[in-house]
Amino acid sequence: MGRQKVTIAELHRKKQNREKITMITAYDYPTARLVDEVGIDTILVGDSLGMVVLGYDSTVPVTMEEMLHHCKAVSRGAKYGFIIGDMPFMSYQSSIHKAIENAGRFIKEAACDCVKLEGGSEMAHVVEAIVNAGIPVCAHIGLTPQTATKLSGFKVQGKDADSAKELIQSARDLESAGAFMIVMECIPDLLAARITNELSIPTIGIGAGKGCDGQVLVYHDLVDLFERFTPKFVKQYINLSPMIKEALAQYKKEVEEGIFPGAEHSFTMSAEEAKKI
Ligand code: KIV
Repeated sequence: MGRQKVTIAELHRKKQNREKITMITAYDYPTARLVDEVGIDTILVGDSLGMVVLGYDSTVPVTMEEMLHHCKAVSRGAKYGFIIGDMPFMSYQSSIHKAIENAGRFIKEAACDCVKLEGGSEMAHVVEAIVNAGIPVCAHIGLTPQTATKLSGFKVQGKDADSAKELIQSARDLESAGAFMIVMECIPDLLAARITNELSIPTIGIGAGKGCDGQVLVYHDLVDLFERFTPKFVKQYINLSPMIKEALAQYKKEVEEGIFPGAEHSFTMSAEEAKKI
């Protein structure tokens, strides 16, 4: 049997069999193709694109139109990975009607397979409503960047017993509301493992230790294309920024010195035709 598109059933099977789930962000067609080619299970078109691609200071300004534009490009590039469209700030908080309508746009217009939204127990009713409308939802708890100001900054969450218990309850409520998977960002590894063991849906960690069912990283962090800062939980597998800068500097030099383009990059015409010009 040839390669199949990843499904929710396959992600759940992996959890049951203790096979790790892989997730990475992608925001454009060429990256989606690369990610798909190496067989990553799930592709998150994260609102992190606001920072790493669009140059905003946070994810807060990201709009539905920006998200859909990038989701469409990723959908065109990825045939097999399960595509997650990240609902931007204020696209699901103000009313259930708006939340369902916007979630539907990710599926209908951008060919995503599901949506992701941030928040704990307080968002369970929104998750339930979107799921009831027929759209799978991936939840996101812990450090939720859209509401980082409310959390007093980009900090590890659930470090004391009370806040840890709240996160455990959030995970339970989101599972009961119908979320098929849950991202846990920046929480202690012991807490993440505890939640992972308790839930029957897969957990995906970012800064949440080894005990999760899978891991996610932001593509631009993993390949070192985002130079503003690097969170502690990031492992850079390649340092592309210096390599790209070196190539660009070489191009500039060769153009300035008349080395590029060479004959091999130029087109010719016959001497006879040239004479007629
Ligand atoms: O937007 C994003 O990329 C995310 C991940 C950090 C999980 O939400």
